[in-house]
Amino acid sequence: MKALVTGGAGFIGSHITERLLNDGHEVVVLDDFSTGHRHNLPEHDKLSVVEGDIRNMQTVEDCMQGVNWVFHKAAVASVPKTVNDPVGSSAANYQGTLHILEAARQNKVDRVVFASSAALYGDEPTLPKQEDMLPVTLSPYAVDKLASEYACGVYTKLYGLKTVALRYFNVYGPRQDPSSPYSGVISIFADRLSKQQMPTIFGDGEQTRDFVFVTDVVEANMQAVLRDEPVGQYMNIATGHQITLNELLQVFCELYQLECKPEYGEPRQGDIKESYANIERASKLLAWQPEVALHDGLKLLCESL
Ligand code: NAD
Ligand code: UD1
Repeated sequence: MKALVTGGAGFIGSHITERLLNDGHEVVVLDDFSTGHRHNLPEHDKLSVVEGDIRNMQTVEDCMQGVNWVFHKAAVASVPKTVNDPVGSSAANYQGTLHILEAARQNKVDRVVFASSAALYGDEPTLPKQEDMLPVTLSPYAVDKLASEYACGVYTKLYGLKTVALRYFNVYGPRQDPSSPYSGVISIFADRLSKQQMPTIFGDGEQTRDFVFVTDVVEANMQAVLRDEPVGQYMNIATGHQITLNELLQVFCELYQLECKPEYGEPRQGDIKESYANIERASKLLAWQPEVALHDGLKLLCESL
């Protein structure tokens, strides 16, 4: 098969690309390198890398030629960046998705998998987060992800384009960039601890998250193109387990054999207290279960640094 991976030079996209190449597929990566890096991708005779922008319809059309599967991961993935620039980020996060869907429709692509987000649940306190809850959009990022999910649904119902939306919770693993204060907390903790520095926990550390390892997310993407059951659906991709940040740091310190003396900072504005997912829908439609336990995933991450 020939696959287009938008955002393929980024954290999640590069793992999907690697898996597709290992499975013998041909891959086109379309990335503007705004946060992605060429060094995230291997040299491979079945991989072509296009430096371009999903905001440009012509570029998207050019990349769509002969493609069977699209893994649409390109986005301004930082929520604060979308807060600072709602119009500019929407051009990529919503309009860019429309470009992908339209070019996929015109080119009779077999499947489009869209990277959605747990951000859609906002600060809705009910746990676990379930797909039938009403979305609570607290950022331009969440609005664009929701609008993109709706657009995927419309393209399936109206035009018969087979789309699947995966709502990722907190994804972690090698190649996640720790350089911004808004990077994923695990990438920041790993970066600091690998330099023998203690990270800062914002608030009392009793907030919880559902951390899912990147290879489990890749497997969900693969099942989303290989199976018919998920077509036209959206579903949570997570582990169904939560852990507090205090516990997370404790596990990390044991891995690095460091005495755990966290610094505590002010709670982050807008932080949600607890988050974990019900994953029954993905488990049924994708015949998928996360395989990597948190301790093992953190070990793999530490070994990669
Ligand atoms: P990332 O920033 O590492 O990857 C995004 C990639 O898209 C980067 O390579 C970037 O250069 C590229 N990109 C951005 N704008 C582009 C544009 N206009 N045209 C072409 N390429 C562009 O982020 P990630 O964590 O790998 O996220 C991948 C996807 O998953 C995103 O859609 C993100 O919103 C979604 N997501 C991620 C998480 C998470 O925990 N990492 C959670 C929920 C949803
Ligand atoms: C994550 C997503 C976000 C999405 C949200 C949906 C990332 C980077 N962000 O946000 O796109 O909208 O899920 O629920 O994946 N923390 C510290 N110290 C640090 C960094 C963070 O204590 O140095 C804390 C934060 O205050 C937060 C927790 O760690 O309580 C997780 O933070 P983060 O990794 O940024 O993800 P979310 O805020 O859950």
